[in-house]
Amino acid sequence: MRAVLFDRFGPPGVLRVAELPDPEPGPGQIRVRVRAAGVQPFDVAVRRGEMSWLDVAFPQQVGQEFSGVVDRLGDGVSAVRPGDAVLGSTMLNGQASALVVPAETLVRKPERLDFPTAAALVAAGQTATGALEELAVGPADVLLVHAAAGSVGTVATQVARLAGARVIGTASAVNHGYLRRLGAVPVGYGPGLVDAVRATGLVPTVALDAAGGEAIAASVALGIEPDRIGTIVDDKQAAEYGVRVVRAPRSPARLARVVDLAARGALTMPVRAYPLAEVAAAHAAVEARHGRGKVVLIVEPEDQPAGTPTTRSNSSAAGSGLP
Ligand SMILES: NC(=O)c1ccc[n+]([C@@H]2O[C@H](COP(=O)([O-])OP(=O)(O)OC[C@H]3O[C@@H](n4cnc5c(N)ncnc54)[C@H](OP(=O)(O)O)[C@@H]3O)[C@@H](O)[C@H]2O)c1
Repeated sequence: MRAVLFDRFGPPGVLRVAELPDPEPGPGQIRVRVRAAGVQPFDVAVRRGEMSWLDVAFPQQVGQEFSGVVDRLGDGVSAVRPGDAVLGSTMLNGQASALVVPAETLVRKPERLDFPTAAALVAAGQTATGALEELAVGPADVLLVHAAAGSVGTVATQVARLAGARVIGTASAVNHGYLRRLGAVPVGYGPGLVDAVRATGLVPTVALDAAGGEAIAASVALGIEPDRIGTIVDDKQAAEYGVRVVRAPRSPARLARVVDLAARGALTMPVRAYPLAEVAAAHAAVEARHGRGKVVLIVEPEDQPAGTPTTRSNSSAAGSGLP
């Protein structure tokens, strides 16, 4: 298989694509031939050596989210068959052409959703929907989304609109038309943010900080109750201002609900696609922190079959217990 590796912490240039032996699924595990893999700020932090709690051993793989096709089953797996299209979360091995994950972590990919969009929804979809639930966003709310054009903000904006809330989203001017199309009232971030929000004529009742910087202070200044300000970025400022740190726990059931929305056309996620060989450029794009939607690596283009499905020990697998 081909896998993204790095041999020391550093800038995107430390990443390389190398050939590795295919991983073999153990009991309860599934091997997936990856079609597309998401790239997120977490991956950038791993590559830069900022995740001291992670067990990193060089050469180290990277990547937390993928979509692909089931290729081989470990003992005892009956929820999927080789050839099934799936998506899911993984830990430090998603940016590769094959990976092994526990069977119960996978979610079935709806046919109407392409592989890159499916991969794009894994982390952002779960983080955004978990945050909205924790903040109890409902039809009476005006939600202020900081960094609304990014991957989490894109989902949060649309799902809040689906819940009946009105949304104000912060983004640079180039993304204001995009936010309007998602159903938000756009405002610029930076100096003047509080006045810009006031100028919309809407009074925010709840805020999601996916930006950091001034977002929490501005949300407090706008009179939003601290208990209804949630950050996924800045634990330190959250403690200072007494606002929530949103943990947004993930689960296959949550991810299945997100992909169902997307498959029904109720949720969109623009994908900025890079071939696997251009992984350094993809990481640099995430690190730049500008642009709309999600950066995704295309591991296998859609018109190429992702390897020939093989079954190891469980060819009698039938039915699906997957969400
Ligand atoms: N992805 C996840 O599942 C996840 C989970 C937990 C925590 N987080 C954290 O949440 C943050 C957002 O994640 P993401 O995946 O949505 O990132 P992302 O897609 O890379 O977000 C990029 C967006 O941030 C906007 N932005 C940059 N600086 C800004 C500022 N000062 N104020 C407002 N918006 C600003 C940009 O808008 P313009 O292009 O218009 O400038 C761009 O649209 C990151 O810090 C990440 O570490 C993410």
